[in-house]
Amino acid sequence: MDLHPGTSRRSFLKAAVAVGGASALAACLDRFEDDEPIPTGTDDTSSLPAGQHEWNQSLDRDEHDNLILPKHHVFLYLDLANGGEPTASDRESVETALQTIEQAYEWSHRGAVFELAYSPSYFDRFSESLDETIDLPMPTAIGSLENPTLDTQDALLHIASDRPDALLAIEEAMFGDESEMNGVEITERLNSVFSVDNRRSGFIGPGLPAERQDISGIPDDRPVPEESPLFMGFKAGFTGNQATEESVTIAAGPFAGGTTKHVSTVRQELDKWYTENSFDDMVALMFSPELASRGTVEGVGNNLGDHSGVTEEIYENVREHAEQYRRVGHAEKAARANRDDDGNPLLLRRHVESTDGSVASLHFPTYQLQISDFIAVREAMNGSDLTDTPSIQNRVNNGILRYLFTQHRGNFLLPPRSLRSLPTPTGE
Ligand code: HEM
Repeated sequence: MDLHPGTSRRSFLKAAVAVGGASALAACLDRFEDDEPIPTGTDDTSSLPAGQHEWNQSLDRDEHDNLILPKHHVFLYLDLANGGEPTASDRESVETALQTIEQAYEWSHRGAVFELAYSPSYFDRFSESLDETIDLPMPTAIGSLENPTLDTQDALLHIASDRPDALLAIEEAMFGDESEMNGVEITERLNSVFSVDNRRSGFIGPGLPAERQDISGIPDDRPVPEESPLFMGFKAGFTGNQATEESVTIAAGPFAGGTTKHVSTVRQELDKWYTENSFDDMVALMFSPELASRGTVEGVGNNLGDHSGVTEEIYENVREHAEQYRRVGHAEKAARANRDDDGNPLLLRRHVESTDGSVASLHFPTYQLQISDFIAVREAMNGSDLTDTPSIQNRVNNGILRYLFTQHRGNFLLPPRSLRSLPTPTGE
């Protein structure tokens, strides 16, 4: 849904529907009526993390130390309104606008965290090339099974918060005509430089997918478990299977302190997922058939603690699992390419579910040192090296590929906070 400048409270609240359906609207109304304050931020930018992707310190953790992502997300795909290279005054406007958000909201899930990332198309307008330390190719399809729309907009603003009213207020302040945001006066807006080409929204957390499962792609008998944070019925993002923010942070060169970001949008067709598979089948296809045979995963996977159980011993034996169990798991396949030389994960995943267009889908940002790390992991997930095994086909017995359809792919550089406002390719 397009969030046109909303002047009235009514259109503002109407827009809340797009963030997450009727329940988000109700939550918003509730909140507004309770008037529970949202913590304000700071005007001292230097007190905030150097990397825009550094959210973890200000997020909650569960009892096993796994990070809990903010519940609501908005992805605004932006184009520079004027062609050509940005000017010093454009940069100043963008920086002032972003600092206003930081002043209005605490940098946390209670307030808001946000990132402004730039695509290869953005950098193409400059006469110089992007610094050679940065691996940022144009997006492409990965493997023969998909034909995604390639997101080549100039920039991506990703905002996340537990409070839908904070997300909406930021959008209205930056792209509408609200004159203040959480008590902070607006003097600059992002729409003086950027126009919104595409808006996508997402959510994650126990209860939210169950509440919003009356959509295309999910069977009518409402199979998504109440306690699941994702539509497919399992928890993801265990600390032990995630890269740390530090390990995905570029160490040297002009964009040191930043990272790269890949964002795909993936449609989910879960009719067959929920009708063809027993719980053990699901564990086998999601994690590993070996873990299914050991009974490792219970329910949505809260019992796993801080690691999915996909250890080296598991992912090194995917081919054997294919032969023995006649199928392979999603996580064990991906893990094969998701380790550095010391055995630590390469990708930081922060994916969220979506009901955009009333279709079950997910927005899937990953952060890594280089885009090629993502491509290698995604190719490993494709498992095309395993289709010579009897019974494994591209979309059959091959993890969760039968149920996933990639709609969009985009690659971005996420500069450090100090260079977030219309950077040049050399960071000057
Ligand atoms: C509906 C879509 C998806 C769901 C529900 C899902 C769910 C899961 C779950 C439950 C795990 C095991 C727990 C964990 O380590 O977090 C996992 C692992 C993983 N998934 Fe996905 N996933 C999905 C799509 C994808 C996609 C599109 C990618 C792209 C590369 C991906 C990459 C990974 C990676 C890298 C791991 C960790 C493997 C490891 O290194 O241990 N997943 N996923």
